[in-house]
Amino acid sequence: MNKWIDNAQLASAPQVEGAELQRAMQQAVRQVAQNLPAFESSFPAANSEHGFYTPGINTDWTTGFWTGEVWLAYENAQTPEQKAMFLSAGEKQVDSFLERMNIHHYVDHHDMGFLYSPSCVAAYKLTGSPHGKEAALKAADQLLTRYRPEGEYLQAWGPMNARDNSRLIIDCLLNIPLLYWASETTGDASYRTIAEKHIHTAMKYIVRADDSTWHTIFFDPDTGAFDHGATCQGYQDASAWARGQTWGIYGTAIAYKNTRRAEYIDYFHRVSRYFLSHLPDDLCPYWDLMFGNGDEADQPRDSSSAAIAACGFLEMSKYLPAEDAAYYTGMAKRLVKALIDHYQVKDFAISNGQLLHGTYAKKTPYNTCKNSGVDECVIWGDYYFMEALTRLQNPEWDMYW
Ligand code: GLY
Repeated sequence: MNKWIDNAQLASAPQVEGAELQRAMQQAVRQVAQNLPAFESSFPAANSEHGFYTPGINTDWTTGFWTGEVWLAYENAQTPEQKAMFLSAGEKQVDSFLERMNIHHYVDHHDMGFLYSPSCVAAYKLTGSPHGKEAALKAADQLLTRYRPEGEYLQAWGPMNARDNSRLIIDCLLNIPLLYWASETTGDASYRTIAEKHIHTAMKYIVRADDSTWHTIFFDPDTGAFDHGATCQGYQDASAWARGQTWGIYGTAIAYKNTRRAEYIDYFHRVSRYFLSHLPDDLCPYWDLMFGNGDEADQPRDSSSAAIAACGFLEMSKYLPAEDAAYYTGMAKRLVKALIDHYQVKDFAISNGQLLHGTYAKKTPYNTCKNSGVDECVIWGDYYFMEALTRLQNPEWDMYW
């Protein structure tokens, strides 16, 4: 029977070191290479089925993560031939993302950042891709259309201004960097202005008194006043959905990077502390952080949350005093070591993903999602795992977000 890990156990957990990190990255790049050409013009589904992703078209909110993996593989390629192969695949996929904006295909939601930062902003930053720039700017414009001025937030899902969809979700903190990039790229401050309003509203309500987080916040559709917090993908409203907590960790780190508002450092420490004190022995969280204290029988993990948290810790370490930075960098190295040892796919015959044991959504009597990708690879887990490896190998890495 597990118990949440305590500080002493956490401090003594091993950290990933140089050669091991390099081997893990080489293996991750090999997985991407082996998935091409099957996934050159098509996109993996959001989650694997029995360990294997199947190909589909560019429709879901998750396709940018695969292209992000291709760009990370491009950056970490072992040979010039490999590099050329990743470049060619990445460029093809960028064209698919531009087409998606041009025909307005499944873009009426807030996930423009998840879609367009790791795919098209990455392409623009790495290669100067004009199509990447055009697509990402169109996506940023589309994201602005989700703004609800009465509550100063970006509406997550559903038809705009639908009364029953007057809500933001914590995940959106990772859509916001696209707006900062658009302001930097165009010189037009209006993207940044909306970004800041959304961040401010989200931060005001999303962290609870015990430092856990709401998945989603509902507002009064007429006045925009806070109405209530709830969950969609957590076990129940008041529990802490693991991935939501880690969108909070990485999201507050990026919010601080872009705004330099000191109070966001405090939010970062709080949400990070809650996450780290609700981990089981092997440092990979259960899908909801309420599990892991001895009552987790048959509950699945969400390995993607550990990968996202590692990226958030490494990003925030750039802005913290040395002692705090060393602490969070050490925690990221422990999380990544645990993922490499117990969750990384080491054999393409077992899975075509990167990280086993993710959980997309698990239905309970108290939440509003349906079961999908339970105890499977999830494509963002694969992406953030590779991002964490990249960050650890190259602390100067210019992030796609
Ligand atoms: N953004 C949706 C999820 O994390 O499942």
